[in-house]
Amino acid sequence: MKHCCTLVLFFSLSCLGTGVLIVFHNNGWCRGCLDDEGRALEQIIESMGFGDEYPYPSKYSDDCCKWEEVECSLTSPHVVKIFYENIREDKELWFPDLSLFAQLKELQELHLKGNNIGGLINPEALCNLDYLQRLDLSSNSIEEDFVEPCWGNMPSLRTLDLSKNQFQGNLASIFANLSKAEYIDVSHNLFQGRLPLDTNLSLPKLYRFNASSNMFFGSIPSSLGELKNLEHLDLSNNLLSGAIPSGLTQNSPLWYLNLSNNSLIGEMLPKDCNVTQLRWLLLHNNQFNGNLPLCLLSSLSLMLLDIRKNLLSGTISGQLLVFKQLGAFLLGGNDFGGYIPRQLCTMQKLQFLDFSKNSFSGNVPSYLGNN
Ligand SMILES: *[C@@H]1O[C@H](CO)[C@@H](O)[C@H](O)[C@H]1NC(C)=O
Ligand SMILES: *[C@@H]1O[C@H](CO)[C@@H](O)[C@H](O)[C@H]1NC(C)=O
Ligand SMILES: *[C@@H]1O[C@H](CO)[C@@H](O)[C@H](O)[C@H]1NC(C)=O
Ligand SMILES: *[C@@H]1O[C@H](CO)[C@@H](O)[C@H](O)[C@H]1NC(C)=O
Ligand SMILES: *[C@@H]1O[C@H](CO)[C@@H](O)[C@H](O)[C@H]1NC(C)=O
Ligand SMILES: *[C@@H]1O[C@H](CO)[C@@H](O)[C@H](O)[C@H]1NC(C)=O
Repeated sequence: MKHCCTLVLFFSLSCLGTGVLIVFHNNGWCRGCLDDEGRALEQIIESMGFGDEYPYPSKYSDDCCKWEEVECSLTSPHVVKIFYENIREDKELWFPDLSLFAQLKELQELHLKGNNIGGLINPEALCNLDYLQRLDLSSNSIEEDFVEPCWGNMPSLRTLDLSKNQFQGNLASIFANLSKAEYIDVSHNLFQGRLPLDTNLSLPKLYRFNASSNMFFGSIPSSLGELKNLEHLDLSNNLLSGAIPSGLTQNSPLWYLNLSNNSLIGEMLPKDCNVTQLRWLLLHNNQFNGNLPLCLLSSLSLMLLDIRKNLLSGTISGQLLVFKQLGAFLLGGNDFGGYIPRQLCTMQKLQFLDFSKNSFSGNVPSYLGNN
């Protein structure tokens, strides 16, 4: 049943000393959800297979704009956001038909995280949603041989989260056209092949990219260095090889860099690095060699440095004192030598220290046990 809403405005006209009441009846924008959008949503709920626990209609009124998980536009009766997160845990696999969602023409956000989705029917239908800004399909069991190519051309998309599924295939350059994208997470899937982004990139706003825990191989594309807003980059747990492209760490706004558990070689950071915002640097379990690069000394906010299990060598100098925020300094499993510098004891924030399995000489300084 549709309802009419009444907009009431009070004006106080002080010179008359009386209040004037103006009442608007508006039959347009505030009438509750549109029939076909409501029907599409009913079909979606039905397809979830609640069986006897079917929450419709007891839980849901006819006006889908009143449903807890649904949000309509303030200026039109269209559904603009759907938050179906973790609403069908521990149930059989769900295979949602995305052409039902595509009937919600003005949809801006679709959150389907954690619903035991097994696969997608008509994934290309989403590409008719010109206003879609956020798509979250994370933490499901989606098995797809490839990501629907047209998803890389969605004009409004800002957030794309496909993490923790079983997507396969090669991303190729499908994300190259997401000119509004700010956050892309494809971590924890079965993607293979080279990292995308190796052709012309049009991701000027991307600030967070997570491709961790897949089977990407080949080198880190130098085009990543052209993303001038990239702050969080997680490529850990892949099969990446080669050296870190120097563009990635040149005058870069990187804040978090996790390249752990790959087969990267060369200097642990390019010689001309300048990563002044860097706080978290995780490079463990690679084949980096050489000493700690001097350019790292410009990363004054560094909080965590994990370079365990590499082929790094040389001595640890007292220059490390510049890292006043450093809380964890993990360099076990390398070939560092010489003495452990006394100055470490003046680093107030230091809580975790791993110097094991190296070639240090002398005694472990007693002051390390002091505070
Ligand atoms: C990117 O967009 C351009 C222009 O809209 C189009 O010609 C091209 O095929 C798109 N690329 C991909 C990989 O879809
Ligand atoms: C990237 O994804 C992995 C696995 O999904 C997660 O553990 C990690 O915290 C993510 N990294 C960032 C920087 O968000
Ligand atoms: C990259 O863009 C330039 C100019 O925009 C174009 O000439 C070139 O063909 C593009 N390269 C690829 C591989 O798409
Ligand atoms: C960095 O990546 C490793 C390997 O995937 C992961 O275990 C670790 O949690 C990540 N570090 C952080 C701080 O997210
Ligand atoms: C490192 O990566 C390999 C293969 O990608 C994986 O099997 C292993 O669990 C990872 N190790 C850690 C500590 O994350
Ligand atoms: C390092 O980068 C910062 C900003 O990211 C910039 O202000 C500074 O000039 C750069 N330093 C050098 C030596 O290039």
